[in-house]
Amino acid sequence: MKRTDKRGLVRAAARARQKAVAPYSKFQVGAAILTRSGRIIPGANVESASYGLTCCAERVALFNALISGKKNFVAIAVVARAPGGPMPCGACRQLLAEYAPHAAVWVADSRNLNVIREFAVGDLLPGAFLAVPGDSD
Ligand code: THU
Repeated sequence: MKRTDKRGLVRAAARARQKAVAPYSKFQVGAAILTRSGRIIPGANVESASYGLTCCAERVALFNALISGKKNFVAIAVVARAPGGPMPCGACRQLLAEYAPHAAVWVADSRNLNVIREFAVGDLLPGAFLAVPGDSD
């Protein structure tokens, strides 16, 4: 993948971040997923007064992509005002392991989009639970 593609996806995540609905934490996060066919699908975090119902930017982007009929994901970029960029939480790692197992994760601090750290979904959640085991009774 060309370097500009990586930068482009990070920029898309930074744009999506502007749509964050984070009145409680004020921590705005943007994400953007790149499909195999080259489509970019955005997400941003959405918080609830019942804090635990909050949905992270990564999952909003992933759900957005899935309900758009997309199945093959090359990468997800995540941007927030955080040193080194925001690392996906455990819940997002689980969903990414299930639906985007081969994707790269690119994270960047919104204050410097040129510094991009890269991870593999498979490395972020080793031994992920992937399917309900068959009923053997
Ligand atoms: N958040 C994300 O959207 N993605 C992350 O990777 C980390 C955390 C959100 C959830 C909540 O709205 C806010 O950031 C503070 O935790």
